[in-house]
Amino acid sequence: MKLVLIKCGGSVLDELSSSFFESLKELKNDGYQLIFVHGGGPDINQQLEMHQIPRNFENGLRKTSAEALEIVEMVLAGKSNRKLTRKLDSYGFRAFGVNGSDGAFLHGDFIDKEHLGYVGHITEVNTDVLAMLLRENYTPVITPIAITNDGVKLNVNADFAAAAIAHALSVEHFLFVTDVKGIVIDEELIVQLDKEEIEGYISAEKITGGMVPKVKSCIAAIEKGLQSVRIVSGKEPFFVSGEWIGTEIN
Ligand SMILES: Nc1ncnc2c1ncn2[C@@H]1O[C@H](COP(=O)(O)OP(=O)(O)OP(=O)(O)O)[C@@H](O)[C@H]1O
Ligand SMILES: [Mg+2]
Repeated sequence: MKLVLIKCGGSVLDELSSSFFESLKELKNDGYQLIFVHGGGPDINQQLEMHQIPRNFENGLRKTSAEALEIVEMVLAGKSNRKLTRKLDSYGFRAFGVNGSDGAFLHGDFIDKEHLGYVGHITEVNTDVLAMLLRENYTPVITPIAITNDGVKLNVNADFAAAAIAHALSVEHFLFVTDVKGIVIDEELIVQLDKEEIEGYISAEKITGGMVPKVKSCIAAIEKGLQSVRIVSGKEPFFVSGEWIGTEIN
């Protein structure tokens, strides 16, 4: 089974273009099965604001109190996931929403409870659920909530969750779909870059905010042996006549 893992940013869920879905169709026609992990940054921010819960980030990670976690899960699973599954369905993909904590499918642990609160990293991925959906030709759409051995739910940065799942499934291609064309440095799209260059740009603060966990996830994926890792736009086509568009990390 040839797989493509696609992390779809919350930043772009409302702006996915028809040309983006054309690229997805081209991948399908080339024999790939698709798996999505989604974020939900803007939707979460809006709801936290409505509930007057402050939002704080540290190195691109959202600090998450118990109170905020409830909103995060409600929004991610109830709004962001629904948006993406509905859109995929409308383009003929048989989308099936899955919450990472269901059936302990995404196992996680606290990163730093004291400083970040209910924020986790993935310790184990139970791929049975995904195998079952893929076998039936569904397109899984995963909400990045993990669960600890003690049954505590954790907010996992969607980029990190996607990287863990991409690794567990040894996917052929791993894509980060976001609201920019790729990594842009001094107003120029960088078509290809490696770990050392990325570290330099982070130190120089030319890669910042939500792009930091994304490039870190890219590096982790490459180090774990994935061959094809890219950051692409959801507003434009990213794969046309077998050619990729965006930033390739290697
Ligand atoms: N060098 C860079 N090149 C491109 N974008 C960058 C760079 N440095 C920082 N960014 C920011 O990273 C953002 C993308 O990360 P962000 O976390 O906001 O989106 P996402 O991961 O797609 O969505 P979500 O976090 O909701 O899943 C861009 O919109 C841009 O503002
Ligand atoms: Mg992000």
